[in-house]
Amino acid sequence: MNAKTMLLTDPISGRSVNLPVRDSTIGPAAVDVSGLYKEFGLFTYDPGFVATASCSSSITYIDGEAGILRYRGYPIEDLAAKASFLEVCYLLLYGELPTETVLTKFERSITHHGLINEALKNFFNGFHHNAHPMAMLIGVVGSLSAFYHDTLDLSTPEQRELAAHRVIAKLPTIAAAAYKHTRGEPFIYPRYDMRYVENFLHMMFATPCEQYRVSRLAEKAMNLLFILHADHEQNASTSTVRLAASSGANPYACIAAGITSLWGKAHGGANEEVLNMLEHIGSVEHIETYINKAKDKDDPFRLMGFGHRVYKHYDPRAKILREVCHRVLNELADTNNPLFELALRLEEIALQDEYFVERKLYPNVDFYSGIIYRALGIPVSMFTAMFAIARSVGWMTHWLEMMEDPEQRIGRPRQVYLGHTLRTYQPIGKRQ
Ligand code: SDX
Repeated sequence: MNAKTMLLTDPISGRSVNLPVRDSTIGPAAVDVSGLYKEFGLFTYDPGFVATASCSSSITYIDGEAGILRYRGYPIEDLAAKASFLEVCYLLLYGELPTETVLTKFERSITHHGLINEALKNFFNGFHHNAHPMAMLIGVVGSLSAFYHDTLDLSTPEQRELAAHRVIAKLPTIAAAAYKHTRGEPFIYPRYDMRYVENFLHMMFATPCEQYRVSRLAEKAMNLLFILHADHEQNASTSTVRLAASSGANPYACIAAGITSLWGKAHGGANEEVLNMLEHIGSVEHIETYINKAKDKDDPFRLMGFGHRVYKHYDPRAKILREVCHRVLNELADTNNPLFELALRLEEIALQDEYFVERKLYPNVDFYSGIIYRALGIPVSMFTAMFAIARSVGWMTHWLEMMEDPEQRIGRPRQVYLGHTLRTYQPIGKRQ
């Protein structure tokens, strides 16, 4: 790469400095401002990191203006239409699409790590039955480091790889166990003769009382949903995983931190909020009222599933999910699904409204996903857990990439201080 620089001049002192520009293979380059403080005693200021690259990465590329999403260079549309979720997991983790032999070996590793230590099952008894599944996921995933000590030496590539396989393999088992706990039903063990998504749906809906056959429609739809949610560059939860990992925290604790961040309504928690919002709106007649509430600065209501920090065009995942919604509902003979009809009308009205057009607010990945989950029998409280299962591969891939990054150091942002300068301590009797 050619060594480009950017000249920066301090208007007060008149002094200038050439800041190095870090080139990219595609997408924006970045001005390396790490020397700014040393040269001028100045920080950069970018709350929410709107224009700040926190790292270099080769995993996922997003072009928000063009609505492009690629995993390791492969368009999301191709992967969604042609790949299995574990094939995409391998691609993200290792950077290449696997051959049949390699994929079979990878699938076998993930399948055989699906069990959780029997003692971990006791953790669920500590949760109230109406505990939110995400609260249980955070607690149990964070506890994995208390059991799997053979993956805590971060300097050993084999241990790091095993940690990644364990997290991807165990998230579905833990999520299904959390669901079973809310229903007071016995846990269902993962099966070695089932495919990843089939296994998950079996653990969710089977009971010891009878044979349960997973529907191929549900398995295919969930496989696609997991692929669409697998990774998304430096989003809030992935950045949380990276920041936690930068201090040398163990991978399970870092993933628990990522699950915590994902739970927020502005992030992965939005899929659950979209369903709640659609049910709250209730009918097409009320759409106008809620569009006006979303536009009212004094009203905290936001159109959930709309808007995105990066996509200023249609989220390519939302486009795919709208089609999948149609297909799944048709195959389930649920052609007049009121929630889907409402979502389509809401999208149509919002995208003609100046407020949304001006701010480039389009439906995002969360807008349609919940309608599909609901149609497949997934309860609303489990929607964000679905997101966490899929995103576990993205989190682990970024974790592995950062563990091997020679530039990696502890993340320690600075601030613009606006507090008191200096004050003298007053004895309590002298205070007003
Ligand atoms: C995900 O980062 C990722 O990649 C995330 C994700 C992933 O795969 O990891 O894609 C998954 O989290 C998708 C987003 C799910 N969240 C929601 O659907 C919640 C609703 N959306 C918003 O809260 C919001 O759009 C965000 C959080 C998604 C983005 O917030 P930004 O980039 O900080 O945008 P902003 O809040 O500065 O909004 C810009 C303007 C503001 O109006 P003005 O002050 O300019 O007048 O747009 C308005 C906002 O008020 N706005 C909305 C809105 N989203 C933004 N107004 C009404 N409804 C909305 N949904």
